[in-house]
Amino acid sequence: MTIRWFPGHMGKALEQIEEQIRKIDVVIEVLDARLPFSSSNHKLAALRNNKVWIKVLNKNDLADPAVTKAWVRDFQLQAGVRALPLSAKKHADTKPLIKLCKDLVPRRGQPGFPVRAMVVGIPNVGKSTLINTLAGRSVAKVGDRPAITKSTQQIDLRNGIVLSDTPGMLWPDMKDQEGAYRLAASGAIGDNALDYTSVGLFAGEYLLRRYPGLLKDRYALQELPESAHDLMIAVGRKRGLLATGGVVDLHKASEAFLRELRAGKIGRISLEEPVADPPVPE
Ligand code: G4P
Repeated sequence: MTIRWFPGHMGKALEQIEEQIRKIDVVIEVLDARLPFSSSNHKLAALRNNKVWIKVLNKNDLADPAVTKAWVRDFQLQAGVRALPLSAKKHADTKPLIKLCKDLVPRRGQPGFPVRAMVVGIPNVGKSTLINTLAGRSVAKVGDRPAITKSTQQIDLRNGIVLSDTPGMLWPDMKDQEGAYRLAASGAIGDNALDYTSVGLFAGEYLLRRYPGLLKDRYALQELPESAHDLMIAVGRKRGLLATGGVVDLHKASEAFLRELRAGKIGRISLEEPVADPPVPE
C-alpha cells in the first residue's frame, strides 16, 4: 500500500521560514528521536544561512538510547549543528536546551536583548509540547492528531529567550515510502491515511530483526515467530482479538501492536539508524 499524506502547500511554509530565519539567531529543529532522518524535512537544510542549528531529538523516552547516541554523533559532524536528545514532556530535560541556546549566542540572552529562536519541524514531533514545557504554561495546542493548524506566534520565555513557532506546516518526504512507513509506525501519520495491517507488518518485520528479545518478553513468546504475519497472529491470540470462527483479526492485532509500540510498551525502540550515506531525496 502506498501511504499518501498531506496534499502540500509546503512551498509557502518554506518561503515563510526562509524569511523568518533572517530575523532569528537559533533554529530549533524538532525531530522524533526514534526516526530522526524520516521525521525531518530535508529541504530545511538549504535554508540554514549559517544560523546556529539545534536538532532536538524529542521523545527520547521512547527511543533506543544506543541508537540515539549514534544519531547525536552523526548530526554533530555537520558544521554548526548541535544535537540534543530530550523528552519535551519533562521540564528538567528542557533546561539544557535553554543553556545551549544562550551558550551558542553569547552576544544575546539579556533582558531586552533576547536570543531569538524559532521552533520548526513536521507535525507530531512534539513542537507544541516543547514550547509549552519551555514556557511553563499552555501556549501551543498539543494535538491528539497530526497536523492541527496553528498560527505563528512569539513567546517570551522571560529568561532571555524569545521563541517563535513554525510559520506554516512542514511535511516530511512522502516519496520515500520506507520513511513514510516508519512515520506511520511511530504514529506521526493520521490514522485515516493508513492501513494498520500493512504498517503493523512492516513494523513487526523490523522489530523481529532488530529487537527480537523485546518482542519475546512483551508477548511471552517461547519461540520467535518466523514472519511478521506470524507475529501478528501471536499478538492477536495473546490479546484475544479474534474474528468469527476463532481466527485472529489481523487488522485488530496490527492496531493493538502499533498502539503498544507507539506507547513504548514493547520497550525503547528506534525505527532507523544513521547510515554512512543516507539517501537524500531530491
Ligand atoms: P506537534 O506540535 O509537533 O504537532 O506535536 P505535539 O506537541 O502536538 O505532540 C504530538 C504528540 O507527541 C502528543 O501526543 C504529545 O503528547 C506527544 N509527545 C510530545 N513530546 C513527547 C515526548 O517527549 N515523549 C513522548 N512519549 N510523547 C511526546 P498525543 O497522543 O497526540 O497527545 P497526548 O498523549 O499528550 O494527549
